[in-house]
Amino acid sequence: MELKGKVAIVTGVSKGIGLETVKALLNEGMIVVGWGRTSPSLDNTDFHFVKTDVSDFENVRDSYERVTTEFGKPSVLINNAGLGYMGMLHEMPLDEWHAMFNTNVNGIYYCSKVAIPGMIDLEEGHIVNIASIAGITGIEKMSGYCGTKFAVRGISHSLFKEVRNFGIKVTCIYPGSTNTNFFDEISGWDANENMMRPEDVASSILHSLKTHPNYHVVDVEMRPLWPKGKPNK
Ligand SMILES: NC(=O)c1ccc[n+]([C@@H]2O[C@H](COP(=O)([O-])OP(=O)(O)OC[C@H]3O[C@@H](n4cnc5c(N)ncnc54)[C@H](OP(=O)(O)O)[C@@H]3O)[C@@H](O)[C@H]2O)c1
Repeated sequence: MELKGKVAIVTGVSKGIGLETVKALLNEGMIVVGWGRTSPSLDNTDFHFVKTDVSDFENVRDSYERVTTEFGKPSVLINNAGLGYMGMLHEMPLDEWHAMFNTNVNGIYYCSKVAIPGMIDLEEGHIVNIASIAGITGIEKMSGYCGTKFAVRGISHSLFKEVRNFGIKVTCIYPGSTNTNFFDEISGWDANENMMRPEDVASSILHSLKTHPNYHVVDVEMRPLWPKGKPNK
């Protein structure tokens, strides 16, 4: 898709993969609207922040109306907002389990639900869902988080078959460990320099957006080459 001058919504833009994706889309000349609970410190006339909790459907619906009124119908939606908690399933507090499903799964449903009719009108669109390696394989003490990311994978694969004939693509991204604030909530697992850089994940998102109309990147999995550091030879 030609991106210049078109409108994109990116969710979860205060930091990490979302913020780097915003910067990559601005570099392409897009008008980028960030939806999140916290605004990033970003000074660019083509960036607009609309305070939005993606786990709240009314809030998402109102934010979408504001975007279409002020900037026009978005062609691109990056469903990035997400969080993870770690722990044994039987010991996990209900509020942590529900927060993960409400944000990581319901948030994608709410944002896609409001954005797809406009994409159908435009006869083009691209939804990018940020899953995780945790959407491909089970991880000990991460049953809740893996459950949400397996759901993202299933939703993405089904949705692309639903909307392809409207000219809408759906791409699912599966990052391995990425050096962001994601690990702040996970005790015993800290972000570090051996993890991938969020700007590299953003570059793969951008690549999948810029493809020919008849070329659909369905899944992208990425991992650090040296997760334990560059080996000494
Ligand atoms: N880092 C990794 O290793 C990794 C690996 C695979 C997949 N992922 C996925 O990548 C995505 C981005 O994570 P990240 O690594 O960039 O983590 P991050 O630095 O913690 O950023 C997460 C972003 O999501 C936002 N957010 C959380 N809940 C929200 C809600 N209810 N409504 C709106 N925004 C919300 C946060 O906003 P606030 O600042 O307001 O909290 C923040 O901007 C997530 O879906 C995560 O599951 C991360």
